[in-house]
Amino acid sequence: MKPAFPTIVCKDAAALAEAAAEKFLYLAGNAVPGPLTVALSGGSTPKKLYEILAQPRYAEKIPWERVEFFFGDERAVPPDHKDSNYRMAHEALLSKVPVKAHRMEAELSKAAEYEKVIRERVHIGSKGIPRFDLVLLGIGTDGHTASLFPGTAALNEREKLVVMNEVPQLNTRRMTVTYPLLAWAKKIWVLAPGAEKRKVVQECLANPAAPYPVASVKPEPGEILWWLDKESAERK
Ligand code: 6PG
Repeated sequence: MKPAFPTIVCKDAAALAEAAAEKFLYLAGNAVPGPLTVALSGGSTPKKLYEILAQPRYAEKIPWERVEFFFGDERAVPPDHKDSNYRMAHEALLSKVPVKAHRMEAELSKAAEYEKVIRERVHIGSKGIPRFDLVLLGIGTDGHTASLFPGTAALNEREKLVVMNEVPQLNTRRMTVTYPLLAWAKKIWVLAPGAEKRKVVQECLANPAAPYPVASVKPEPGEILWWLDKESAERK
């Protein structure tokens, strides 16, 4: 049966990060007219990818002046906090290459201000919505993506592109992009390696209407690609 979403299956998480880095290099080198606008994901999965991009074999080839980084979500903490997505990306990549990056000031609840930055910096499509060239997303075992968690208000946002979202299951607030913004992305990569993601991945691939926030990420006319490894791709 054809999966609900296109997938690429790598041997393991390390091979996935390497393959994604190679594809990123190509995108960065072919961004016309540029810059390549990229929304980074938080969590632990993309850290390996960011670390690879910071290695000279990539960092010295990528035209960083033609790349501009944003974030898909952020915890409501300062940038030096251990839980900060910005801190993770800064330590792994942003501090090592000459690239422009826009931090989400989630600790100050500046969602409207961040949306304004996106509208100013990201190419506006024919429907008046900014179209990221690439959005990186992860998946939680509960099927959340960015900070679009099951049962939270941000899932119902149809106008704003960036909101603060109360996440009672974590007893916290987060800043997150919303479905209206994701729907217009030119490319979305869902990075989902690992055995612990297998169940939610397989349910989403088997059923495009699976009851998980990540299953509702369906860019149109953009394209989505789920990056799996052998463990998460396994259909038990
Ligand atoms: C975050 C991320 C979140 C993440 C998933 C998966 O702020 O935590 O944006 O959506 O991608 O929780 O996290 P792992 O990569 O750590 O499994």
